[in-house]
This record gives sequence, C-alpha cells and structure tokens, in this order.
Amino acid sequence: MIVSVLHQKGGTGKSTLAVSMAVFLASCGKTVALLDADPQGTATQWGRRYATEFHVDVKPQRMRSLVEAIKEIKNIYDHIIIDTPPSVNADTEPAIIAADVLLSPMKPSLSDMWALDRLAAMVLVAERKIKPPHILVLNMCMSPDERGKIADRLRGRPIRLSKVQIPLAPDWPEIFEGAALTEEIRNLLAELWAEISDAPAAD
Ligand SMILES: Nc1ncnc2c1ncn2[C@@H]1O[C@H](COP(=O)(O)OP(=O)(O)O)[C@@H](O)[C@H]1O
Ligand SMILES: [Mg+2]
Repeated sequence: MIVSVLHQKGGTGKSTLAVSMAVFLASCGKTVALLDADPQGTATQWGRRYATEFHVDVKPQRMRSLVEAIKEIKNIYDHIIIDTPPSVNADTEPAIIAADVLLSPMKPSLSDMWALDRLAAMVLVAERKIKPPHILVLNMCMSPDERGKIADRLRGRPIRLSKVQIPLAPDWPEIFEGAALTEEIRNLLAELWAEISDAPAAD
C-alpha cells in the first residue's frame, strides 16, 4: 500500500502521522519505506536518529522523481508512506499520482477546512483515471466529538472522514524525540490503518 500524507497547510500533523504510521506498520512486522518529499526534512531528521531502531527505511525524495522512485521500490516494501511539503500545487501532483490512498490530517478548524478545498481540486484534475480514495483524519482535537461539524461541511466533497479522531496530546510530539508509540496511539493507528486498507477507490 502506498499512502501519501498531505495537506495544503503546515503544522497539521503530516510528518507526525507519516512517521508514526511507518513505525506502527514496521512494528507489525511489515517492511516499510518512509519517503520524505518535504525539503524541510522533518521525517529525514527523525530517520537519521531513529530509523534503525524502529526498522523503517527513511529516504529523502525529490517530488519530481517520486513516481519513478516508487516504481523501483514498490515490490521491495509492503508499505510506502510519503511525507509531503505544506503546499499543494502542480509540483506536488506526483504525491497524488503515485498513491493508493491519500491521507490528510487536519485540525478541526475552518481555515484548515478551506485549505483542504485546494487539495480536493488538485485530486480532481490529477492525471490519473482512477482517483485515489482520500481520507481526512481530525488531528489535535480538544474535545471528544469534533467530527460532527466537519462531517456536515464535507458533504458533497469526495473526501471520507475517518472515524478516528486524534487528540491534542503530548505523546505525539514525543515521537520526534524517539519515543515508542503508546498503547493509545497504537490503537488509533491500527483503527486508521484498517480504514486505509479497506478504502475502495473513489471512482
Ligand atoms: N496529536 C497531536 N497532539 C499534539 N501535538 C501534535 C499532534 N500532532 C502533531 N503535533 C505537533 O504539532 C507540530 C506540527 O506537526 P507536524 O507533524 O510537524 O506537522 P506538518 O508536517 O503538517 O507541518 C509538531 O510540533 C508536532 O509534534
Ligand atoms: Mg511536515
């Protein structure tokens, strides 16, 4: 499975989710590549310190050659997770073209919701016949049910809202410091991964 983690804005939790999902899948005994297509290099920095310990292959990856790079390695790994820059434009289209599933973490805020529209439009015009399923997961939630108001606003968009809601919690930033996944984080990621693996293509 090839998953692109993307959102138009910075600070929505893309790198955190990409790293933690890669760690989770590797801990389930899968072979995992984490391709860091963000020149900021957050995932790469994590990888330099902790990739060996967590059995994840982390590679910096130019967005321009992403599609070719994936063709070369997709038979080697069970799963490939792609972390992307906080921008969605023509340059980032390879992350949409290469993926089986698009995963967007997002704070339950209106401004993040507006930014998502740009991404949804990019997905619609991306040069591929079958559009990848696009799953939105609410991140840094401060109350237990933020899904309701976002679900209403998503109506009519080709985006699925995950049942999983990620709370604002100090355990998540600690992942960048090499912390192992807590039981709670593992459970959330397991549930999210089940949705990702079950997602049928959007059209
Ligand atoms: N669920 C969460 N709870 C608390 N802090 C979080 C959570 N998810 C991410 N963060 C923190 O928010 C900041 C931005 O996250 P990051 O993954 O770097 O975002 P992006 O890659 O989208 O720019 C980081 O400091 C990260 O540790
Ligand atoms: Mg990032």
